[in-house]
Amino acid sequence: MQIKKINNKIVYESAVKLCVRLFYLSSLNFSNGVQGENQKLSPTIDEENFEIFRNSAKIWWNVNGKYRALHAMNRLRVPFIRDGLIRKYGHGNSSADALKGLKLLDVGCGGGILTEALASFSADVTGIDPSEELIAIAREHVKENCLLSQRITYKIETIEEHSARNQGKYDAVILSEVIEHVNEQEAFLKLCIDAVKPGGSIFLSTFNRTPLSYFWGIFLAEDVYKVILKNTHEWSKFISPQETQRIFETNDCKVEQLKGLLYLYSPWNRWVWTNSTAVTYIQH
Ligand SMILES: C[S@@+](CC[C@H](N)C(=O)[O-])C[C@H]1O[C@@H](n2cnc3c(N)ncnc32)[C@H](O)[C@@H]1O
Repeated sequence: MQIKKINNKIVYESAVKLCVRLFYLSSLNFSNGVQGENQKLSPTIDEENFEIFRNSAKIWWNVNGKYRALHAMNRLRVPFIRDGLIRKYGHGNSSADALKGLKLLDVGCGGGILTEALASFSADVTGIDPSEELIAIAREHVKENCLLSQRITYKIETIEEHSARNQGKYDAVILSEVIEHVNEQEAFLKLCIDAVKPGGSIFLSTFNRTPLSYFWGIFLAEDVYKVILKNTHEWSKFISPQETQRIFETNDCKVEQLKGLLYLYSPWNRWVWTNSTAVTYIQH
């Protein structure tokens, strides 16, 4: 009896120790790679991929660096978004005021390359990114421009958090070159849709999942021309316009526009519109 009792006690104590240890380990795992109390993790974050962006915050605004393709992409994506919004809302009468009064959400804004460009048309833009480092760079960069600073709000937030507090708030939600970097893409897109007001717009740009997109978007970009950081893209995360359209339609959204675009490597370093969406596309 006594032995059994002692055994029970040992078993009980061991179980408690094990639970404490498991709890400790799981909390370590949860905060793995996290710096600063504001750093966010969520089910949609692919931690390994996210690390690449966080660790390269300092080179974000180097127009000839590893984010040169994102900088160059503004030449096409900014007018595409601006003109789509002008058609829908008919706001503004001058180019500088074209988006005046509109509330936009830039999801996964990084260092703010697209956020700043959209705010330059007088929109009120909220940029969210789970990375403390990237939002710090974005805030630092916009400080140089007083007008833009007044129109932009940057937040270290996940889409889960932001969408929960801002249901149906925005005239448009933009997710450009983000969905191919997240986990649980359908849930992610649904959360983005939740933040749009009824009748509002969503703009999405990303890579299609085709053999050509592997060749063009990974092999050429990462291994041959080395214009982006190695392992930035994972082909299995690329998503076809038919898949995104299905998710949109499941959530009562209609795709009005779909256009293909292609990045031309050195010496051009520029994006061009194409009839094919086999590599990269943008949807509204
Ligand atoms: C290729 S960058 C695109 C930045 C910006 N949208 C642009 O086009 O200039 C991808 C961004 O997605 C962000 N990101 C990764 N996972 C995310 C998630 N689950 N939710 C929101 N943003 C995420 C990264 O931190 C990074 O800033």
